[in-house]
Amino acid sequence: MNTYANLPVYLARGEGVWLWDEDGRKYLDGLAGIAVNTLGHNHPRLVAAIADQASKLIHTSNVYKVRLQETLADKLAALSGMDKVFFCNSGLEANEAALKIARKYGHDRGISNPEIIVYDNAFHGRSIATLSATGNAKVHKGFEPLVQGFVRVPLNDLAAVEKVAIENPNVVAVFLEAIQGEGGIAPARVEYLKALRALCDARGWLLMIDEVQCGIGRTGKWFAHQWAGILPDVMPLAKGLAGGVPIGAVVARGAAASVFGPGNHGTTFGGNPLACRAALETIAVIEDDGLLANAEQTGQAMRAVFSRELSSVAGILDIRGRGLMLGIELACPCAEIPKRALAYSKEYGLLINVTQDRVVRLLPSLVMNVEEATLLADGVVTIVRDFLSQQAEPKAA
Ligand SMILES: Cc1ncc(COP(=O)(O)O)c(C=O)c1O
Repeated sequence: MNTYANLPVYLARGEGVWLWDEDGRKYLDGLAGIAVNTLGHNHPRLVAAIADQASKLIHTSNVYKVRLQETLADKLAALSGMDKVFFCNSGLEANEAALKIARKYGHDRGISNPEIIVYDNAFHGRSIATLSATGNAKVHKGFEPLVQGFVRVPLNDLAAVEKVAIENPNVVAVFLEAIQGEGGIAPARVEYLKALRALCDARGWLLMIDEVQCGIGRTGKWFAHQWAGILPDVMPLAKGLAGGVPIGAVVARGAAASVFGPGNHGTTFGGNPLACRAALETIAVIEDDGLLANAEQTGQAMRAVFSRELSSVAGILDIRGRGLMLGIELACPCAEIPKRALAYSKEYGLLINVTQDRVVRLLPSLVMNVEEATLLADGVVTIVRDFLSQQAEPKAA
């Protein structure tokens, strides 16, 4: 169906942070399939693990116990400091599970119309419930009526949440991304996350942090909220968890971990042996190869290039993000930049992205080294400068 405005390139193979199209042209991958290819392309350990698992068991069904699912759940619990995991196949499914946990948590406490606090510019997926939680009118348009039970607030505005707390006795949860991804690489501030944790504790609300895009080591910690030193009650994951094999997971703790009983939720594919093995191997490589530290250092190297080369350029409004989740906000719409990037030089193109119409977004693989990151950052600087110089009247920074 006509759902994607694809760029005109067919990628045929990859190696690390490099890709080649069907005509043999080379590209430096600054997007990693939108934060999915955690270990880059064709990683020997991930390829071997997937091949080995495929030769043993791909799928059995949750009718039976799945050993690798239990092993992966234990690993995610250890990394997050949380208790239990439900496995599914994508980000929106993980978020659907989170929303169901919040609603049932409310019903179990006698709240028959539970409401969930959500955010301007948030993105949580494209099912009817998760698009309703999403704070973007373009995502809603044509799909009304939206699911009820959401109260929307601006990000990093504690007073707005406190006001809801006073006015609305039906609130059961706060649901936000630690760093908004589709919303333009907009971080929830560390102090804000800490204050939300305290408010949720005081009110008996669940703090639900969507780590689908910012989790799995991308910011230099396993999960981006860990920079605030807090624990969520519910944490949806997906994208980079299995290095490219479809998977989703919702990790929960305390009361939230025991909301579901048999029959409350389920999925055919979720937690199948193939996806769980790929996730376990992805996590093992991150640990063995020190990829959290790499994400932080490599991200800093790119930030340094952007600060030096772009921060005082007219038409640049902001440079933000953490680790390998970076955004450069322009004063004007720049949706054509990814297409220009494909043609960056004679030797190779760049795979980069624009979100919110004017934020150039970088989400490279965690295996990207400083040398490759510098090539990427230099390329982005050139493309952005060229683009701005060709605009009629770039606004002053
Ligand atoms: C923060 C966040 N949540 C949820 C989703 C939806 O994930 P999926 O596309 O796997 O359904 C995305 C996808 O971009 C996301 O960035």
